[in-house]
Amino acid sequence: MKAFVLDRYGKQRALRKADVPMPTLRDDEVLVQVHAAGVNLLDAKIRQGEFKLILPYRMPLVLGHDMAGVVVKVGPRVRQFEPGDEVYARVDDFRIGTFAEFVAVKAASLAPKPPRLTMVEAAAMPLVALTAWQALVEKAGLKSGQKVFIQAGSGGVGTVAIQLAKHLGATVATTTSSGNVALVKRLGADIAVDYKTQDFAEVLQDFDLVLNSQDGQTLDKSLRVLKPGGRLISISGPPDPAFGQAIKAPGFVKLVMRLLSSGIRRRAQRRGVDYSFLFMQAHGGQLREITRLLDTGAIRPVIDRVFPFDSTNEALAFVEAGRAKGKVVIQLV
Ligand SMILES: NC(=O)c1ccc[n+]([C@@H]2O[C@H](COP(=O)([O-])OP(=O)(O)OC[C@H]3O[C@@H](n4cnc5c(N)ncnc54)[C@H](OP(=O)(O)O)[C@@H]3O)[C@@H](O)[C@H]2O)c1
Repeated sequence: MKAFVLDRYGKQRALRKADVPMPTLRDDEVLVQVHAAGVNLLDAKIRQGEFKLILPYRMPLVLGHDMAGVVVKVGPRVRQFEPGDEVYARVDDFRIGTFAEFVAVKAASLAPKPPRLTMVEAAAMPLVALTAWQALVEKAGLKSGQKVFIQAGSGGVGTVAIQLAKHLGATVATTTSSGNVALVKRLGADIAVDYKTQDFAEVLQDFDLVLNSQDGQTLDKSLRVLKPGGRLISISGPPDPAFGQAIKAPGFVKLVMRLLSSGIRRRAQRRGVDYSFLFMQAHGGQLREITRLLDTGAIRPVIDRVFPFDSTNEALAFVEAGRAKGKVVIQLV
């Protein structure tokens, strides 16, 4: 099969289009023909070697975490899926490889494709929608009437998180540049702060929750937005000791995480707020919940650009440039 392969870590290193063997199918896995693959910053960051400590991959590596496609074969222990089913998933860490014609996916991480969505739309959703779900629903238990500040509302995560938070009945503030204010308002944001001309920490107060996806300075300033007892959840680091524990990281990696996050944890504690890092996980059950919201239209995909399979490197470069409005998808079929 054809796939885009990473041979060595490196900044802007091109993936090589190659003929590679079909993935081996484990007993609890499903072989899927990939019709469309969503592109995430995680793909670019792995390519650069930024995730070496957390996700120590061996080369050569087929990148790609999101996909929608059709089941072609199931392992002997799989009961929920059969050949011909239309499915979508964020595939599991260490089983990634959706920038390819076929991928083997753990059945527990798959969900039926939302019928109302095209393959391209479905492939755009899993990683960012699961991130929003795991931050707002699973970790924070966001409730109707609460106030949440979701940074970068026009990005992949932001466009879904705003819609999910509104669906849960929260008041939503976000940051965006002036050109994207109309987009985030359309998605449901109540307050849009132009991050190029305004300081969000001067405008936003007494929030219950902040979803941080930006740099360290933004993370620190986010503390000022929260009321005592509020929560700061960061998806852009630094990883905390609880995360090291959860992924059963080796002792020295746990120590690195403890040190990297000691400053923000101390400052959060001083202000009486909770800091935690989230690294989203594949989860078929949660994806089925998300499917319901996609089917009712409570959440709609926002897609910036679709690239043909041959332009996988261009798609990755587009995402890496950091200006995408919503999602970028590679179409194979
Ligand atoms: N830990 C996890 O599980 C997890 C999961 C998903 C993503 N992430 C991380 O979360 C971050 C966001 O991911 P993403 O996929 O949403 O990114 P993305 O789609 O690439 O974000 C691009 C968007 O960010 C906006 N933006 C750029 N700088 C901004 C700023 N300073 N303030 C507000 N908006 C800004 C841009 O809008 P303008 O053009 O208007 O600037 C653009 O629309 C990344 O670091 C990613 O790696 C982590």
